[in-house]
Amino acid sequence: MAPDWLGLHDRIVVITGAGGGIGRAMALAFAAAGARPVLLDRDQAAAVETAALLPGSPLVQRCDVADPESVAAAADATARLLGPCEVLVNNAGLLRAGPIASLTLEAWNQLLAVNLTGYFLCAKAFGRQMLARKSGAIVHVASIAGRHPQPWSGAYSVSKAGVVMLSQQLALEWGPQGVRSNVVSPGLVRTPMSEAFYRIPEVAEQRAGVVPLRRVAAPADIADAALFLASPRASYINGEDLCCDGGFGRTLMGLVPRPGFDAPAD
Ligand SMILES: NC(=O)c1ccc[n+]([C@@H]2O[C@H](COP(=O)([O-])OP(=O)(O)OC[C@H]3O[C@@H](n4cnc5c(N)ncnc54)[C@H](O)[C@@H]3O)[C@@H](O)[C@H]2O)c1
Repeated sequence: MAPDWLGLHDRIVVITGAGGGIGRAMALAFAAAGARPVLLDRDQAAAVETAALLPGSPLVQRCDVADPESVAAAADATARLLGPCEVLVNNAGLLRAGPIASLTLEAWNQLLAVNLTGYFLCAKAFGRQMLARKSGAIVHVASIAGRHPQPWSGAYSVSKAGVVMLSQQLALEWGPQGVRSNVVSPGLVRTPMSEAFYRIPEVAEQRAGVVPLRRVAAPADIADAALFLASPRASYINGEDLCCDGGFGRTLMGLVPRPGFDAPAD
């Protein structure tokens, strides 16, 4: 295989939420492909920990994606110190428990501010640099919760469904100027966001058991999908949503009792 099969060598790749589980795996995967990751996170210490795992000295910036000034400053600093952003991975996100019936407006707005508006702000600030060069790719990390409602999780599913549509709209508006926009929708992934669930052994086992591949994703599984979508290997893919869930989203008909249609015994 050609040494730079993905064609990402030296590309400037901005990753939001780079201190978290999937963001860190993205940074490792893009660096392994020869790209130059720029690590953004509200939690600067976590992003610095990610940087310590990478070759060279990647640029780390404290950035709150929900704050337009913070995003603008990160975009300016990236362009000034390294050059224009060529790939943006919109990944920073939150998950909070909460039934809709008792959800406060504040909690609703707080989640959307990060998971949806944060994606919009970053797409705008870094996308401007791509539009100026008439080339670039954006990969948004949504979730299968954007296709299947995730109950008791406040605005989470709504935010992810919004991200899918934001991406499709960008694909239409920016495609003519050489900027692609696509989504990766992970299923169940073990990261700091979900770690509390997996610490309970029965829950970990049950979660792996509902996935046809019989395992929960590692963050690297999601990073591999993003790597492809960001790369010139996906140069004719625009406005798509790549589900990366081990087949979990296809299990609906398997849940229905159907006497006489039993799986063969091993
Ligand atoms: N873990 C899963 O099972 C799973 C499944 C589907 C989708 N996702 C999505 O993947 C993405 C990454 O999640 P993860 O599992 O790695 O979570 P994580 O909690 O490990 O990482 C999220 C990172 O985002 C950062 N962040 C949060 N708010 C921010 C803000 N306002 N500005 C900048 N950074 C901020 C956090 O500091 C953290 O480092 C999220 O968008 C999440 O919704 C996760």
